Amino acid sequence: MPASLPEPGRTIPFHVAGRDLLLCNVDGVPYVLDDRCSHARTPLAGGRLCGFLLECPLHGGRVDVRDGSPAAAPVRRPVAAWPARRAGDRVEVALPATAEPRT
Ligand code: FES
Repeated sequence: MPASLPEPGRTIPFHVAGRDLLLCNVDGVPYVLDDRCSHARTPLAGGRLCGFLLECPLHGGRVDVRDGSPAAAPVRRPVAAWPARRAGDRVEVALPATAEPRT
């Protein structure tokens, strides 16, 4: 679990509960996605965050970090998105073993 949010407009990958996740900071609000593009199953880490849209670094497809929905081709299927909230200077992510992503 990351100790704190990255700077606004930035992302940071992390690993928890057996999942590779990506923490995104949009104007101080945390959003967490699986760090795996639904197009070619490669990491989204390193992609450019522009508002709520995260650009995949491999082919330039886009995902809406609020719910993981596809926003630009070639991404056509959602990426798993997980509820997250700030807790002081840390971020909590809801990842119970039986949790289903919001998408
Ligand atoms: S792997 Fe992400 S758009 Fe192709």
